[in-house]
Amino acid sequence: MGKAFLLIVSLVLLQRSLVCSYKLVCYYTNWAQYRPSIGKFVPTNVDPYLCTHLIYAFASMKDNKLTTYEWNDEIMYEKFNDLKKKNSKLRTLLAIGGWNFGSSRFTSMVATSQTRKIFIDSSILFLRKHGFDGLDLDWEYPGSQGSPPEDKQRFTILVKELLEAFKKEARSSGKDRLLLTAAVAAGKETIDAAYEMSEISKYLDFISVMTYDFHGSWERVTGHNSPLYRGSTDRGQFIYYNVNFTMNYWRENGAPAEKLIVGFPTYGRTFTLSTSQTGVGAPASGPGQAGSFTREGGFWSHYEICPFLKSATINFIEDQKVPYAVKGNQWVGYDDHQSFTTKVQWLKNHNFGGAMAWALDLDDFSGNTCSQGVYPLITTLKSLLNIENPDSGSITHNATSSEPTSLEPPVPTSTAPTDPHTSTSNWCHGKTPGLYADPNDHQKFYNCGGGQTFHQTCPEILIFNKNCNCCSWP
Ligand SMILES: *[C@@H]1O[C@H](CO)[C@@H](O)[C@H](O)[C@H]1NC(C)=O
Repeated sequence: MGKAFLLIVSLVLLQRSLVCSYKLVCYYTNWAQYRPSIGKFVPTNVDPYLCTHLIYAFASMKDNKLTTYEWNDEIMYEKFNDLKKKNSKLRTLLAIGGWNFGSSRFTSMVATSQTRKIFIDSSILFLRKHGFDGLDLDWEYPGSQGSPPEDKQRFTILVKELLEAFKKEARSSGKDRLLLTAAVAAGKETIDAAYEMSEISKYLDFISVMTYDFHGSWERVTGHNSPLYRGSTDRGQFIYYNVNFTMNYWRENGAPAEKLIVGFPTYGRTFTLSTSQTGVGAPASGPGQAGSFTREGGFWSHYEICPFLKSATINFIEDQKVPYAVKGNQWVGYDDHQSFTTKVQWLKNHNFGGAMAWALDLDDFSGNTCSQGVYPLITTLKSLLNIENPDSGSITHNATSSEPTSLEPPVPTSTAPTDPHTSTSNWCHGKTPGLYADPNDHQKFYNCGGGQTFHQTCPEILIFNKNCNCCSWP
């Protein structure tokens, strides 16, 4: 292959990476580590190439400062952020809040400029200390759940001040600015009480809309967790309880489509039927039975739904474009490959910015129970949103431990063989993490990181160039 050909290939690849920019935002939850056997989920279960953004849920707040929640968060933060050593394009964020966190600490924190400053300053220090690329605000919700009406405006002020502080810190530290994002409500009444939609959209890098939990066992009749469209029997406020209405509502109220990320649940919501009716709107006495791994009534992970489907009756809600399944008195409204495909097509037609998946640990991450490979639902999102693995020319992919690196070969070529001499060589001992030329072989270099030595080779005919710390043409 000639140089000109490779140059053209690299330009085409560069252009494609600029055009294709859907985000796939995936949540990690720090309590999934406590599920039994095949349900247990820890950072090493995360595929570093599956999503463009990973969000660690949830951090907490104490004395208005951002802080850990689980006893082992700091250990998991490190493993989580180490995923970027495998995929240097991956971005990680830390989420604060969540349903169980409640509103009261947010309410006190946003009340004065002093308490907001304490939170903002502590967030910057905390995120930088642990190697996160940004903060995700998961306040459920300003203006409800005990939060007073004025929190709607105060949330806007918080977001504005956070972004200003993040910009200032980026200028003084010389690092990439920390990202600022939020997970926001999908119910119309909650949205109206919580957000100045066009204002907060100016300051947030993206907004993940939680377009699920539209129906569940808190209601007296069956309904789907995450319908795409309004159901033909929906009346009153229920006409708003679908993905299509919610996303359009955010956009019509001033949030730019490209910043809006559509929520995709990798779980279903269950009911126990109380009569012989089995359709949508059938009477229900309460939640369905708890799953053996998630152990919570009314809720099944995708990997708990798959075994149920084997002996259940599967139905499709034609007007809402989502499936439900029934067996005995157990009813589940869920998503599958087909409903995710329909929703992604709709997302693309409406020019939304991408998909958010709640959550990594609820998909069939091990491929154990659905027999559709690992992460069948999120993989569907990944392939339909044209999210590619990082270009195969990045020569550090095979390194299991390396610093996020500036080393980009000038042309994409084949993946370089990696030869980790982790047990036999301590060439890197005492050296700062980074890349070093191999004095004995101009095609090779040492990659020092995490206290380990990786002896690597430049792709094809390229040689290691000390000036750019990269592989380049001889
Ligand atoms: C989707 O939402 C838009 C805006 O609310 C509405 O005009 C349209 O009819 C909805 N589509 C369907 C199929 O319900």
